[in-house]
Amino acid sequence: MTRIGLVTCSRLPDLDPEDTPLLDALAARGVSADAVVWDDEAVRWEEYDLVVVRSAWDYAQRRDEFLAWAERVCGVARLVNPLAVIRWNTDKHYLRELEAAGVRIVPTQWLEPERHLSSRALHTRFPAHGEMVIKPAVSAGSLDTGRYTAIDPQSRGLAIAHARRLLGEDRTVMAQRYLTSVDTVGERAHVFVAGEYSHSVLKGAMLDGRDVAVDGLYKEERISAVEASPEEVEMAHEVIATARQLLDAQPDAPGADDHLPFLYARVDVVSDDDGRPVLMELELVEPSLFPSYADGALDRLADAIAARAERAAG
Ligand SMILES: Nc1ncnc2c1ncn2[C@@H]1O[C@H](COP(=O)(O)OP(=O)(O)O)[C@@H](O)[C@H]1O
Ligand SMILES: [Mg+2]
Repeated sequence: MTRIGLVTCSRLPDLDPEDTPLLDALAARGVSADAVVWDDEAVRWEEYDLVVVRSAWDYAQRRDEFLAWAERVCGVARLVNPLAVIRWNTDKHYLRELEAAGVRIVPTQWLEPERHLSSRALHTRFPAHGEMVIKPAVSAGSLDTGRYTAIDPQSRGLAIAHARRLLGEDRTVMAQRYLTSVDTVGERAHVFVAGEYSHSVLKGAMLDGRDVAVDGLYKEERISAVEASPEEVEMAHEVIATARQLLDAQPDAPGADDHLPFLYARVDVVSDDDGRPVLMELELVEPSLFPSYADGALDRLADAIAARAERAAG
């Protein structure tokens, strides 16, 4: 029987609840799936035909360890999304590459730890007015992401302290203007399965002062179903196609299925202050896919995973 490992983290050993229905849906398709914790030493990865990363949300502070794990797994099983994708997409520097390739992203100041920027230098790089966001380039679940007021000296001081703390941990800092459309219109997440558009959801603002992380793992999201316009779907398609081209152009893309469409992808889009859509992030590693928010989404996902597993089992 074809076997699939659905990868989670130790604090969610039975998967994120949104993924639990996948177990039965895959069983109904004649493939067996288990929830497996990525850093559990007892897991025998070679017993799986396909290993699908799902809720491995604790890698942000341990990215090297996570990448070493991915490398190990892809030596003995088929890993999706593949190693090259995981390497590229776990660090938001990929946004710079997408921007250089013509994708409009949230305007960002990139503050690199090796520049050893002084508080003064940080101050001059932060927006002069409005609100701003400080976040690490390697992050998940909105953790270590803060919202500050640019003109209030005390808040600006906290923003500088926040950036210095992350830089002191050798992490790249992204400084952005706070886009108020996140409050008024919301962020839209467009979900793709095996290269095909599946559905979209609307995500409420995350930086609204509720500072409670669930299990220290992620901040709770307020999600609702939403109908995306053809233009939005088109933009999301273009983001994914651009990412695919950039990855295919990498010299060391390992793994036989690297050129297949991403098994899953989520394109998170917000509006800038002029109302134009800009990319917040492209999630190719461990996005929530919100299958319960659209008719047929769970079946599309289960079909795609089962097909990929059958292919891997050969
Ligand atoms: N520039 C910004 N303006 C407004 N909200 C933001 C901005 N950057 C991040 N956020 C909020 O923080 C959340 C998490 O940021 P994101 O870049 O998506 O990182 P993560 O990888 O942690 O999801 C977003 O979903 C959004 O609600
Ligand atoms: Mg996000």
